[in-house]
Amino acid sequence: MEQKKKEKGVIVLDYGSQYTLLIVRRLREIGIYAEIADGRVSEPPSTFQIKGIILSGGPDSVGEEGARSLPIWVLKKAEENVPILGICYGMQLLVEAFKGKVRSAACREYGHAEMIIKDCIDTIAAKKLFFFQISKTSNRQVVWMSHGDDIVTLPSSFEEIGRTKEGVIASIAHRTLPIIALQFHPEVHHTDCGKEILKGFVTELCGLELTWTAGSMMERIGFEVKEVVGAGTVLVAVSGGVDSTITASLLVKILGPHRVTSVIIDHGLMRKNEVAWVAENLKRIGLDDLHVINAEDRFLTALAGISDPEQKRKIIGRAFIEEFETFAKSIGCKRGFTHLAQGTLYPDVIESAGHGVGAKVIKSHHNVGGLPEKMGLKLVEPFRFLFKDEVRKLGEELGLPLELIYRHPFPGPGLGVRILGDITKEKLDLLREADDIFIRALRREHLYDSIWQAFAVLLPVKSVGVMGDNRTYQWTIALRAVVATDGMTASVGALPMDFLTRTAGEIVRNVNGINRVVYDITSKPPATIEWE
Ligand code: XMP
Repeated sequence: MEQKKKEKGVIVLDYGSQYTLLIVRRLREIGIYAEIADGRVSEPPSTFQIKGIILSGGPDSVGEEGARSLPIWVLKKAEENVPILGICYGMQLLVEAFKGKVRSAACREYGHAEMIIKDCIDTIAAKKLFFFQISKTSNRQVVWMSHGDDIVTLPSSFEEIGRTKEGVIASIAHRTLPIIALQFHPEVHHTDCGKEILKGFVTELCGLELTWTAGSMMERIGFEVKEVVGAGTVLVAVSGGVDSTITASLLVKILGPHRVTSVIIDHGLMRKNEVAWVAENLKRIGLDDLHVINAEDRFLTALAGISDPEQKRKIIGRAFIEEFETFAKSIGCKRGFTHLAQGTLYPDVIESAGHGVGAKVIKSHHNVGGLPEKMGLKLVEPFRFLFKDEVRKLGEELGLPLELIYRHPFPGPGLGVRILGDITKEKLDLLREADDIFIRALRREHLYDSIWQAFAVLLPVKSVGVMGDNRTYQWTIALRAVVATDGMTASVGALPMDFLTRTAGEIVRNVNGINRVVYDITSKPPATIEWE
């Protein structure tokens, strides 16, 4: 624990903004360790040394019944010289705390705005910080707003730093304490100087050095794993996906091969030939003690007749645990497992509302939620605080083959969340064939690496077609290809039209049971990457 406590970083207090995770992403990109906590926590989190506090935006209006409020410890920290950056709702919370006034704007401001920074700034924090540097390039900055409330009376302890052309106060600074607040969002790309502002905050005000690198991640994880596992033995659930593969490989490096057993649960929801390919590659990278469990019948029986996405995810999650339990019991006495490791990522934890009381469940990721006590194994999740691109950097640091590190992500519930409606073996086989044709075509035409994730989805829609002289009435495949950096947001992959039409033709000609192919062109948000 000692090492972790020594780590310095920024806590991002979440007030329900859709961008909270993005703030953490930006800070990590800059090279700073950051974590999210619920904006109402009554005590500062103690997992690392808090050198700065960021208050996120949020949908509430200060003063309204039920609106999230600022915990007392935050202002105490500012008095102890820990800098605070309030963003949007975070700014309004600060204004309220210092007896200023916020009002509901006549209409919600959403989109680009121009902030004009004052020529002469008195406040030391603001001067020392970013505006001094930013306004050296220009005192007019394009910023991105999304707010329904704004400041009507600035507390006397604050100085106005900039406002928009329309007269909205866009940034303020406390005259004596290290507190800066912005009405706009520096974490979104549309704010031109956003990254400089965040970088200025963490370096100039918080005094942090940019030390969050693959090497420091590795060091931190090594320390934590040793501390959590002690002299124990770990069972790792591997799927062949990027996260679990790198988890297993890292554990072998940290604990040695004799203390790590890997198991692939073949739930029958894997892609074509995937289990054999994965097993071969995992052996190749040094996972010597690897077991493959064929659990297809058990999973498909448990899923029979289930169409609801959340129910499917929960059934799959439960079935995974049961399989581990059985496996751990069957060879556990010989190996004496104490821990089960998973490649859970930070966005999985956040999206499953694992970090606090205020977040909404979007999808229950199958690998979040802990283990039943009766299993008697403790969880090790070395990547619980990492984003996918950070995990990939670790993979490179470990010297793993790029083919494994840069595989497209594949969800734990596998094709189970890519068959809409009920799941049957016949539908799985159709989907496997169509998906294989799509992915092989992407590789053949050197498009695979330009896409973050691509796959086929089987829709519960039959339509009429004509093959030769015959009428067909068959299922529909949707192809999905997205570009993203971490899967939290994504946009459609611009695959050439002729590639798509050729692939559609190949699928319909070769997969008997599919007579129509569509291409999903929706971004995330508002859609998600997977269809379920
Ligand atoms: P969504 O569909 O939420 O997906 O936009 C974001 C990324 O997460 C993957 N995903 C999962 N990964 N267990 C996982 O390990 C899951 O339950 C799960 N659900 C979605 C998805 O493939 C995409 O890369």
